[in-house]
Amino acid sequence: MSDKLKKLLSSASIIAKERESEKLIPTLADLARELLEVDRCSLFLYDKIKDTLYTMVAHGGVRIEVPATAGIVGAAFVSGEPLLIPDAYADPRFNKEVDKTTGYRTRNILAVPLIDSKGKVMGVFQAINKLSGAFGQEDMEMLELLATYASNSLEAGMLYERIKSAYKETVMRLSHAAEYKDPDTYNHIVRIGLISSLMAQKLGFEEEYCYNLQLAAPMHDIGKIGIPDAILLKKGKLEGEEWEIMKRHTIIGYEILKDSENELLQMAARISLEHHEKWDGTGYPYGKKGKDICIEARITAIADVFDALTSERPYKPAWSVEQAQDYMLNLSGKHFDPELLKLFFDNLEEVMIIKREYSD
Ligand code: C2E
Ligand code: SIN
Ligand code: SIN
Ligand code: SIN
Ligand code: FE
Repeated sequence: MSDKLKKLLSSASIIAKERESEKLIPTLADLARELLEVDRCSLFLYDKIKDTLYTMVAHGGVRIEVPATAGIVGAAFVSGEPLLIPDAYADPRFNKEVDKTTGYRTRNILAVPLIDSKGKVMGVFQAINKLSGAFGQEDMEMLELLATYASNSLEAGMLYERIKSAYKETVMRLSHAAEYKDPDTYNHIVRIGLISSLMAQKLGFEEEYCYNLQLAAPMHDIGKIGIPDAILLKKGKLEGEEWEIMKRHTIIGYEILKDSENELLQMAARISLEHHEKWDGTGYPYGKKGKDICIEARITAIADVFDALTSERPYKPAWSVEQAQDYMLNLSGKHFDPELLKLFFDNLEEVMIIKREYSD
């Protein structure tokens, strides 16, 4: 077995395991340099908005961005075919300007297109200056293989990002739908998510947990969808039976969310049920106490009340931050978990950045 084949096979597990293209692509460029025995490799990606090709990875370190039709790279991009250029300066398509600005001397070039699963060209993988001899068929096949790995990874990454962002937007819009009837803005639920997630970060929870909380906390009032308008939108104070009905939004939300296997929705169900429980056991719906109340609900309670107090509601004007802080600190160990409340106000500056950035 040839050394190159061995090298390629020994890299296969790295290639298969690495899910982030930001890490995989540089590895592929290094591998291409070694296997093809060239001086440099670059991977160009197409920017649809600017109609340019830019280097995602470039040995030699200089970031290059060229019109999508320029040079050998552009020719490979436009044609969707691999190009083997034995003498760059003899080819009229070669763009000498790049060498001029970088001070590098290009002799020969191999450029193969990155093609996605629909046959669309996403970019170009380029190898420059074979260390000895000329590029051959074997080099081209090798670079095409590595280009396939690169485009698969890039495509999977883009798909993952799209799914993740659609999922996030769906969660946020549905959470907002529950509050749509009362005049809470979309930004109110965005803030609750970001502030809760900030607190989880400060507590040292791992990134995925913080991200889940960022999406779960906004769902805390989803049960308000089951509360009659006459109560939800009442301008004045809620009386007896009205208040009993309003309190059910916690259990309604829990019932909506509780049966999912999904970790994020399970977290949201817990938060919905317990976000009005109080540290001293005087909250609702069950009068749970202290650490019997899940940590996510204790966090969300602080974010929710702070944001509700400092915002206008149909039944109250907005309070100043100082008023809200005094009021809440007085309830330390009564309504709120004292350690979490301290953490919150220790980080008030960062909270206020979120408030300002997502103001109504
Ligand atoms: P919300 O408006 O999102 O308020 C969330 C929580 O922030 C409240 O939970 C309460 O702990 C705190 N909060 C908000 N505004 C005030 C305030 O002016 N004074 C005080 N002391 N705390 C405030 P809570 O009390 O369990 O209420 C849950 C939900 O019930 C509220 O969500 C709101 O939708 C509704 N609600 C509560 N009181 C009234 C009211 O007097 N009139 C109407 N129409 N709705 C009310
Ligand atoms: C918010 O800031 O919470 C929304 C504004 C409002 O409740 O009127
Ligand atoms: C209540 O109506 O009992 C509570 C309302 C509030 O805290 O604003
Ligand atoms: C923590 O992680 O802050 C302790 C867990 C808890 O308070 O329940
Ligand atoms: Fe609530």
